Amino acid sequence: MRLKSLLQKLPLFSDKGDSVERTIKEKQRAQRKKEKIVIPNLRLSYAEATSQLLGKYDRATAMSLAVGGDYEFMGDALRVRLERFGLKEGDYLIDVGCGSGRLAYALSLSKYRDTIRYLGIDIVPAMLEFAVEKCQCPSWRFELVTDLRIPEADECADMVCFFSVFTHLMQEESFIYLREAQRVLKPGGKIVISYFDMADPKHWEIFESNVNSVRGRQSKPMDIFLSEDFLNVWAQKLNLEILNGRAPDCGQRTCILQKL
Ligand SMILES: C[S@@+](CC[C@H](N)C(=O)[O-])C[C@H]1O[C@@H](n2cnc3c(N)ncnc32)[C@H](O)[C@@H]1O
Repeated sequence: MRLKSLLQKLPLFSDKGDSVERTIKEKQRAQRKKEKIVIPNLRLSYAEATSQLLGKYDRATAMSLAVGGDYEFMGDALRVRLERFGLKEGDYLIDVGCGSGRLAYALSLSKYRDTIRYLGIDIVPAMLEFAVEKCQCPSWRFELVTDLRIPEADECADMVCFFSVFTHLMQEESFIYLREAQRVLKPGGKIVISYFDMADPKHWEIFESNVNSVRGRQSKPMDIFLSEDFLNVWAQKLNLEILNGRAPDCGQRTCILQKL
């Protein structure tokens, strides 16, 4: 009895000590809650998003969803577009952000299988592995990149494409990649970019759904919207000519640039 009353007089064991501790914990909890509300950026990396999909779906479905879905149909639609924009047999094509090989697979089933040189680069190893397995084209290169460089020499490529890649990069990162594309292209070579356009009414629904994701604090890969103004300025800065700022859509607006 005497020991208990003695202990209670010590701050560590007293009720007063308990309540101070409780108040501190409550304050910390409130602070954490506050911080959670004010942190705006919920950007989920592409690698994290891919591994979440792999945990949820079978591999082929996950690999399709990771690049936007409709693997075979959309892959072929992209191939047809590249052909329309000037891809020809004998060309060297660089596919930046090739993902799980949606475009590469369609090309591998076409006349281009043995007639083009191809380099696909991406930041997610699991997607590159899938692309290699799907295409079965030993002479094509699929490479992992960890920076914003295209691992190629100057002036060697005929075409560089970015399908739904600038959509997931900060504008500064896209500009660095565009400069890289300009560097690796032969004079007269073409760059194909697809992007979400802030001014396109068809893309507004996507923007609105992203607003709701941010509100609901859902973490997903970042979607960035661009506009013709951005591309006009970038083209001017990099000595590129915009051949067609409104080429046929492929779900996103497509812009074709040429190295002068
Ligand atoms: C929406 S997917 C499109 C994939 C492919 N271009 C297609 O249309 O099927 C975006 C791709 O960009 C890749 N990516 C994101 N950041 C990148 C970066 N800094 N360098 C290269 N690829 C990147 C992602 O890993 C993903 O594969």
